[in-house]
Amino acid sequence: MAATEVDVFANEEKRNLELGGHVGFDSLPDQLVSKSVAQGFCFNILCVGETGIGKSTLMNTLFNTTFENEEGSHYESEVHLRPQTYDLQESNVNLKLTIVHTVGFGDQINKEESYKPILEYIDAQFEKFLEEELKIKRSLYNYHDTRIHICLYFIAPTGHSLKSLDLVTMKKLDSKVNIIPVIAKADTVSKSELDKLKIKIMSELVSNGVQIYQFPTEDEAVAEINSSMNTHLPFAVVGSVEDVKVGNKMVKARLYPWGSVQVENENHCDFVKLREMLLRVNMEDLREQTHARHYELYRRCKLEEMGFKDTDPDSQSFSLQETYEAKRKEFLVELQRKEEEMRQMFVNKVKETEAELKEKEKELHERFEQLKRMHQDEKKNLEEKRRELEEEMNAFNRRKVAAETLMGQALQGCSQQPFKKDKDKKKLTCQTVSQAGALLFTFDWSHRCSRHVQHR
Ligand code: GTP
Ligand code: MG
Repeated sequence: MAATEVDVFANEEKRNLELGGHVGFDSLPDQLVSKSVAQGFCFNILCVGETGIGKSTLMNTLFNTTFENEEGSHYESEVHLRPQTYDLQESNVNLKLTIVHTVGFGDQINKEESYKPILEYIDAQFEKFLEEELKIKRSLYNYHDTRIHICLYFIAPTGHSLKSLDLVTMKKLDSKVNIIPVIAKADTVSKSELDKLKIKIMSELVSNGVQIYQFPTEDEAVAEINSSMNTHLPFAVVGSVEDVKVGNKMVKARLYPWGSVQVENENHCDFVKLREMLLRVNMEDLREQTHARHYELYRRCKLEEMGFKDTDPDSQSFSLQETYEAKRKEFLVELQRKEEEMRQMFVNKVKETEAELKEKEKELHERFEQLKRMHQDEKKNLEEKRRELEEEMNAFNRRKVAAETLMGQALQGCSQQPFKKDKDKKKLTCQTVSQAGALLFTFDWSHRCSRHVQHR
């Protein structure tokens, strides 16, 4: 439609006409109601609180039934979320209720990251819905909406105020989900202490900028009750599934040696206020806020991240095709840059490795040269030694020959004078000769040994 045409329609005055009789479009609200009733409703509650704080008991008390209840252990290494979905029916209204419990919350020594799994879970549900919305063939009509509509944050009744874990977690979640803080096991605190605790908690939430869910006051029908209930936050709740006879009535209560705490007695606790606000008065507002505020914020950020933007009245009109093309080009440029970066990294790595190998080769070559020199020196030394030994052997042989000749001559001399009377003289001569030979031999060996020792 051309802009001028739009302007014409905008400036056109609306005329009120009288109808001649009943035509039927006044049944439109009824049509909507019956369509919604036929379709059924989804409601998803996230219970955030320490292990054993009373989450499951409160859920059972709220819906007056017994949900599956698996007790948590105090030894979980990290927080994880456990969703359970139930089909409930009241009158002719069908409700698909999902209760998500935080298992292991507050049990770790280091609680810094405790909020992360919760945040991730909430985002994952938004992401699932966005994916469905962006599909070509959407089936939002029968889509099981798992987005969290309300986060009941359970505050321990034992402290003097909020713990840092409570503040950090609520602060991280407040832009993602509607938060209603509740003081759990309120029957364990005296009335005056409870009043002080409520004031302290609210002032801490305000001073730390934590946005909790405020019951809406725009609708006149509920403005009064909602604005009065806003002053009772955080609700101090007591949960019980035990039926106790009080007077002639059976009521849900907790029994103690000194008396009983009635869950639905507004003088005992705020359970009824919570149920009224959560289920009877503001359930639809919680669903609407989730879609119009929290999901919208998620969707906007996500689409902006993807490169989509709205039409600026002063600039050209927004085209999905153009955005897609621009984003594709951007992506391709980024891909090319990444590829080039990786190629460069690979080349550098190869160069580095090559240089390292060259260095190693040089070292090996030097070592080889050194060993070669050592080997040559050794060889030279051995040659020298061999030459010396040969010389010694020759000298020894010469001496040996000389000694043998000397001995031969001496023996010959002895054998040619057999009839000499002086036998002692002969003996002496023979002894002298053999001693000379032995001496010669000994001299030679001692000489060789001393040379050998000297050499070593
Ligand atoms: P996990 O699922 O194990 O983390 O525990 P939870 O938070 O679901 O607590 P659960 O409802 O199982 O209750 C734990 C204990 O607290 C049980 O013994 C309950 O009877 C008790 N309890 C629950 N609500 C209240 C309450 O309002 N007041 C008191 N005094 N005790 C309660
Ligand atoms: Mg439980």
